[in-house]
Amino acid sequence: MLSNQAGEGKRASLHGHWSSKMAFILAVTGSAVGLGNIWKFPYIAGQNGGGAFVLVYLVCTVVIGMPVMMSEILIGRRGRRNPVATMELLGKEEGSSGHWRWVGVLGVIGGSLILSYYSVIAGWTLGYVVKSASGVFVGASVEAVGAEFKNFVGDWRIIGFCHTLFMALTVFVVTRGVERGLEQAVRFMVPALLVLMLVLLGYSMNSGYFGQGLSFMFSIPESCMTLAPECPLTWDSVLAALGQAFFTLSIGMGAIMAYGAYLPEDTSITGASAAVVTADTGIAILAGLAIFPLVFANGLDPADGPGLVFQTLPLAFGQMAGGVFFSTIFFVLLSFAAWTSAIGLMEPAVAWVVEHFNKTRAQASLLIGGLIWFIGFGSVLSFNVLADTTFLAGTLFDNVDYLTSSIILPLGGLLITVFAGWVMCRNSTADELGSAGTLYKAWRVLVRFIAPIGILFILINAIT
Ligand code: PHE
Repeated sequence: MLSNQAGEGKRASLHGHWSSKMAFILAVTGSAVGLGNIWKFPYIAGQNGGGAFVLVYLVCTVVIGMPVMMSEILIGRRGRRNPVATMELLGKEEGSSGHWRWVGVLGVIGGSLILSYYSVIAGWTLGYVVKSASGVFVGASVEAVGAEFKNFVGDWRIIGFCHTLFMALTVFVVTRGVERGLEQAVRFMVPALLVLMLVLLGYSMNSGYFGQGLSFMFSIPESCMTLAPECPLTWDSVLAALGQAFFTLSIGMGAIMAYGAYLPEDTSITGASAAVVTADTGIAILAGLAIFPLVFANGLDPADGPGLVFQTLPLAFGQMAGGVFFSTIFFVLLSFAAWTSAIGLMEPAVAWVVEHFNKTRAQASLLIGGLIWFIGFGSVLSFNVLADTTFLAGTLFDNVDYLTSSIILPLGGLLITVFAGWVMCRNSTADELGSAGTLYKAWRVLVRFIAPIGILFILINAIT
């Protein structure tokens, strides 16, 4: 799928090129669609009260997420190296400084920290493939499904094993290079996942609680419309919504920049970004619409936290005809979706170690993968042995999640917009985006003013 021809007159990628625009869109979609949409979005929206949070998330996606994604792709394509080297190179080329490399370094650290817990949750989905296939959820009660989940995450050896398995699978693909197999996997996985989400949606529409789920997700309290002080949305929730927009789109840490490095010159960055943002947001909303009615129908608490999806969906599958089949397939697909995202999380670090330390891909992925695997045990233990050891944002898992989603990604996004909007000259960005028309002007206003000021404003208000 990758060929080694260089774009005429421009810098050639050290790693080859995507074979087509579609291949690139599929790879970025594979990175974006993952646990963030199906596991994280519903539980974060639930914890932050629903409607108003969802609205802020959607606004952040369009106004901040989309321009940041375009910036990452164009920076990646212009630099054609790993995010650290690209930022350094372009920083110098644009007459600023090589210190911009630190944005890349922040991304390498952020991506590795995210993967450390992402792999643990992806391990749960692997575990749920086996559970689903064994039929434990058939006709199971709310209590039984809840107990099944508690016992599962309560045993660090089991979820530690699942985490190990998932990391091994990830290291295996990354060793072989980003390109191989990814395109095929995503081409099949995303549509299949969409179909199963629709099956679940059909089920939840018939649960008798669809209206309640819908209103939880989309109705905005009067007090928030008038920005009255009684509005339950806090600055912390607004930051969580911003962080979720970054997390689910895979932006702010160089993953998209690393993929952009392999993008051929003639591909439209705006079109590709719009396609990915639409698919990713659509799947998250669909997941919410499938899950919240089930939450209310079964008397569960929407603010239940990371176990929400694992305690609602098996319940629905358990009552469906063909539930064992659907449930098994669903968790297989979700594991796949997590897998293609995990590859994106590791890519900046691996590409950097390969280029900077002159290692082979295999050595680099083993090294980085081993380190991430080890750090991941902090999250494995957060659900059992260390569940009561809390500080700052909560357990170790909560802290790594907060540090990455709410601090590192928005900060990375802020620096990327400043770089694309203020450091890179107009000619460079117009050249990459392929026009200086209205669309370009809109992007430039978003990237120079709206996005950076918005991110800074939210960060400052939430942290002080
Ligand atoms: N976007 C992925 C998801 O929603 C997670 C991810 C974040 C992947 C950052 C790569 C980079 O599951």
